Amino acid sequence: MPLAQLLTALVLVACVQATSSASQCQPRPATVAQFVKLPFDYIVVGGGTAGTALSARLAEERGVTVGLIEAGNIHLNDPNIDTPGLSGIGNASFDWLFSSVPQPALGEKVISVPRGKMLGGSSGINGMAWGRASAREYDALSTFSCDSSWSWAGLLPFMRKTETFTLIPGNPYPGISLLQDSQAALDSLDVDGFNGSIVASHNSFIFDPVFKVVETLNSLGVPTNAEPQAGNATGVTNTLLSIDRAEGVRSYAAPTYYCSHAQDSNYHATKVHFTKKGNTLTATGVEFVVGGKTYVANAKKEIILSAGAIQTPQLLELSGIGNATILKQHGIKTLIDLPQIGENLQEHLFVAAQWQVKPGVETFDLLRNDPAFAAQQQKIYAKTHTGLFAATDSLIAFLTLQNVVSPAELESLLATFDQEASETTSPLTQLQNSIRREWFAKGETGAIEILQWTRGLFDPAANLSYVALLGGIVHPSSRGSVHLNSSNPLAAPTIDFRLASSDFDKQVLIQIVKFLQKIGTQSPFSDIIVEQTNPDPNTQSDEELLQYINFASSIGDHSIGTAAMAPKDKGGVVDHTLTVYGTSNLRVVDASVIPLHIAAHTQATVYAIAEKARILASPARMFVDSLA
Ligand SMILES: Cc1cc2nc3c(=O)[nH]c(=O)nc-3n(C[C@H](O)[C@H](O)[C@H](O)COP(=O)(O)OP(=O)(O)OC[C@H]3O[C@@H](n4cnc5c(N)ncnc54)[C@H](O)[C@@H]3O)c2cc1C
Ligand SMILES: *[C@@H]1O[C@H](CO)[C@@H](O)[C@H](O)[C@H]1NC(C)=O
Ligand SMILES: *[C@@H]1O[C@H](CO)[C@@H](O)[C@H](O)[C@H]1NC(C)=O
Ligand SMILES: *[C@@H]1O[C@H](CO)[C@@H](O)[C@H](O)[C@H]1NC(C)=O
Ligand SMILES: *[C@@H]1O[C@H](CO)[C@@H](O)[C@H](O)[C@H]1NC(C)=O
Ligand SMILES: *[C@@H]1O[C@H](CO)[C@@H](O)[C@H](O)[C@H]1NC(C)=O
Ligand SMILES: *[C@@H]1O[C@H](CO)[C@@H](O)[C@H](O)[C@H]1NC(C)=O
Repeated sequence: MPLAQLLTALVLVACVQATSSASQCQPRPATVAQFVKLPFDYIVVGGGTAGTALSARLAEERGVTVGLIEAGNIHLNDPNIDTPGLSGIGNASFDWLFSSVPQPALGEKVISVPRGKMLGGSSGINGMAWGRASAREYDALSTFSCDSSWSWAGLLPFMRKTETFTLIPGNPYPGISLLQDSQAALDSLDVDGFNGSIVASHNSFIFDPVFKVVETLNSLGVPTNAEPQAGNATGVTNTLLSIDRAEGVRSYAAPTYYCSHAQDSNYHATKVHFTKKGNTLTATGVEFVVGGKTYVANAKKEIILSAGAIQTPQLLELSGIGNATILKQHGIKTLIDLPQIGENLQEHLFVAAQWQVKPGVETFDLLRNDPAFAAQQQKIYAKTHTGLFAATDSLIAFLTLQNVVSPAELESLLATFDQEASETTSPLTQLQNSIRREWFAKGETGAIEILQWTRGLFDPAANLSYVALLGGIVHPSSRGSVHLNSSNPLAAPTIDFRLASSDFDKQVLIQIVKFLQKIGTQSPFSDIIVEQTNPDPNTQSDEELLQYINFASSIGDHSIGTAAMAPKDKGGVVDHTLTVYGTSNLRVVDASVIPLHIAAHTQATVYAIAEKARILASPARMFVDSLA
């Protein structure tokens, strides 16, 4: 990407001596010169999903001073961010606009990698799906961290602390949201959160084809799950969305966790400064660029990196922590040789199929096909915060391999899995594989996700309406990497997901496309279909399907794992306190620390990690409030 774009992309926010809650933050320092003079206890780098939540929580402590360094702007009350029916993706005002290197296993396709660049980070541009993985997937974290507090039971209070679950009164969609069901409503009292920063609510509008797909999935053996938040996330659900129904707006990190009178200044962090004592580094400050000038802000207690799974590794490498060979190539002096930084990159890979639906079947294509209707919906949204612009797609299903393949096919998939597993030399991958092998064989967690796009995705024709289904591998074997590409701290990193580089992943993807095609042939979904437009129905052989996958695949934008929480000798970058090995006070708190992917969209888990990190960074808090 052009450097000029990044150079202009520089916001600072500082939460200084907040009193009892984030909403009582003091006015920020007016100039960068004032900012760098502040006696910070903590500096958080990256005011994204995790960084905004964590810095606001740390600043709740009386007398504690927290500096937050964010490269993007503050976009409070911007309709492109707030309106659920609009999106900031692809707009340089909100998105870093990264892309991957060509992906050999996908026909050298270059994948675009949107990342939020604003106060709130990716929570400001994400798809708003709100959900947790299954309990077992969080329990696995205790294996990686060697600490039992990293578990479903240990994280649940933090997941609840983030959340304000709201039922829409008289929810009109019992077909896929069974929350009126008394048992489910009762369960949710123990598992949902009711006083957190992020509002989680159900969709305000659901098109009829969604019900058709739910029924069809049910008939294919995928049950409806009325309480996916309770530790079993499999089945088909009407997912919660991070949307505040009172205003009909996106509920994300900036307007909820952060003080609303924070200031814009665009601070791009370029390096962490250290002092060395024996073999241990102590982080003392953060160098950053604003308006082409370099400054340093200092912190007495800790520096916390929350730049996200794509940019945190780059910042560590720029600071001299990473693979010594790579650092040397870029003329950076190695302070700590920690070659796992930037490795273990995991993404969810999706492939889409599409059907044209019969005349009269309504979908979001209405907005595209009928400008007068779209204008009317805009007016309704402006007036009442409801209508189609307050809605989005919300059918999400997590399937086990057993839901999708026959026992014989499962055996063959597992044989491929075992073959590949036997070839890996990475201790981290080996540990991951032993855990994943059990999950796959037992069929207790999601392995495949299906989500519905009730609108055209591939070259939709004027006046026609469509349904697309995306099927993805949520526990992939492929592992990629992200590293700095230049010693210029403002240059984009090299992102190589190595998507579909594993045969296991490829075979699962083929099975996914077959299953999507099968859904299209089953009533009641088939009753509303004119034809399958993508793939061409003649696409049948594995070879043809792989060709199709090259064309029709995309990522879930759920990158994780590049500064994994795991033992150092197993390839970890941070320990169970999220402290970088070899340092006394440099933490990573963002999606990078998740060592193994989860069958869930990632935002709710990232917020929970930030809420937990507040306790790790400031243990006194433990006694100040009760977590539930
Ligand atoms: C397009 C998209 C759609 C998604 N859809 C969903 C969804 O529907 N549901 C869901 O659960 N999850 C979704 N996700 C994933 C989820 O939003 C992310 O996993 C989560 O927000 C990551 O949080 P984070 O704190 O790790 O990083 P981010 O929120 O990305 O925060 C990183 C922050 O650091 C800043 N930064 C980076 N480098 C520097 C630097 N050098 N100096 C200063 N600041 C810097 C960035 O500008 C950014 O604000 C989506 C993600 C994307 C991108
Ligand atoms: C990008 O976002 C900015 C800020 O909201 C807006 O002014 C601009 O119109 C958007 N650009 C596009 C192409 O949507
Ligand atoms: C809700 O949270 C606020 C602020 O964090 C707190 O003051 C209040 O006591 C909480 N209410 C309940 C019912 O827990
Ligand atoms: C999870 O729930 C589904 C139904 O929603 C059920 O079929 C499955 O057996 C449950 N899995 C576990 C591990 O409890
Ligand atoms: C470090 O980087 C070099 C150069 O890219 C690479 O060959 C080597 O395998 C890396 N080391 C590890 C442990 O990943
Ligand atoms: C779409 O429908 C409208 C109204 O029915 C009609 O005026 C228009 O010509 C149609 N466009 C196309 C491309 O068929
Ligand atoms: C990495 O740097 C090289 C050489 O400077 C450049 O050609 C390439 O486009 C860069 N890659 C990325 C992802 O920016």
